[in-house]
Amino acid sequence: TLPLEKGWVPSRKYQGFWYPEGFLLGAMAIQQRFKARPDDIFLISFPKSGTTWLKALAFATMTRKQYPLARHPLLSLNPHDCVAYMDELFAIGQASKVEALPSPRILATHMPYSWLPDSVAGSGCRIIYIARDPKDALVSYWHFIMERSRSPEMKKIPFMEAFETFCEGKVPFGPIWDHSLEYWRESLKRTEKVLFLRYEGLLEDPVANVKRLAEFVGCPFSEEEQEGGMVEEIVRLCSIENMKSLEVNKDGKHGPIYPVAKSSFFRKGTKGDWRNHMSLEMARRLDVIIEEKLQGSGLTGWSSQ
Ligand code: A3P
Repeated sequence: TLPLEKGWVPSRKYQGFWYPEGFLLGAMAIQQRFKARPDDIFLISFPKSGTTWLKALAFATMTRKQYPLARHPLLSLNPHDCVAYMDELFAIGQASKVEALPSPRILATHMPYSWLPDSVAGSGCRIIYIARDPKDALVSYWHFIMERSRSPEMKKIPFMEAFETFCEGKVPFGPIWDHSLEYWRESLKRTEKVLFLRYEGLLEDPVANVKRLAEFVGCPFSEEEQEGGMVEEIVRLCSIENMKSLEVNKDGKHGPIYPVAKSSFFRKGTKGDWRNHMSLEMARRLDVIIEEKLQGSGLTGWSSQ
């Protein structure tokens, strides 16, 4: 048994990463039993990096021929209910739900690249990874934990305490730099296998990134679709403003292991919110850690200056 660290969410360190206790058995079961299919598409992230957005965009893009956007399932289902979260399903003994999904499956996990079973690296399946400025991911994570801490068994964590823990890398699914770095490196080696997207890039040019995504998964937008404004419609459908306004995302909870209000997946949806939570000195301290960890990898662009 691995020692349990109380932290933000009780987590254990396994193969170099901190994993929430509730999901670790799921991740181990995936390692042992999951068999990837050659046409699987994996959506992978460190939490609070734009997972919900990526799920909505990939699901809408890949199912656009099946469902007209005006009557799309995303209008009545939370994005997390449209894409299976493998860590959770395997943890609660519902792996069969993943197996029963028709191909091509869209599957999500927060597992580090080095944890993925051999059938993922070795088959033709593809991975879309979304990365975010760690400072914004931290702020977003802290708000998310605060939201959860409304339930009596969770304690509130002052931001300063969360910051220190984050700097040590001792956060659930962390350290974030190692998580992103593993996928970054693989995306450079195997461009056809791993598409490395950035949250900030999606904010800047969502249309171009959705086109990249569609090409990567093998369902590019035809000229006719592009001229008809299909990409822009998908971007609008999946926008945070639209998602927030939908009844299905206003009420109710998501997640059998760590239940959380569906609304808490949609907060600000901007970049640079760290400026409202940390001093420049704190930001620089985190910058230095990140720069050191990512040194020489070519993964840059998150400096606070
Ligand atoms: P903020 O807390 O900074 O607003 P995840 O989906 O990985 O849990 O990440 C959640 C973050 O993505 C939150 O960031 C949330 O507001 C933002 N987000 C969720 N849906 C979004 C969307 N459609 N467009 C842009 N950002 C979105």
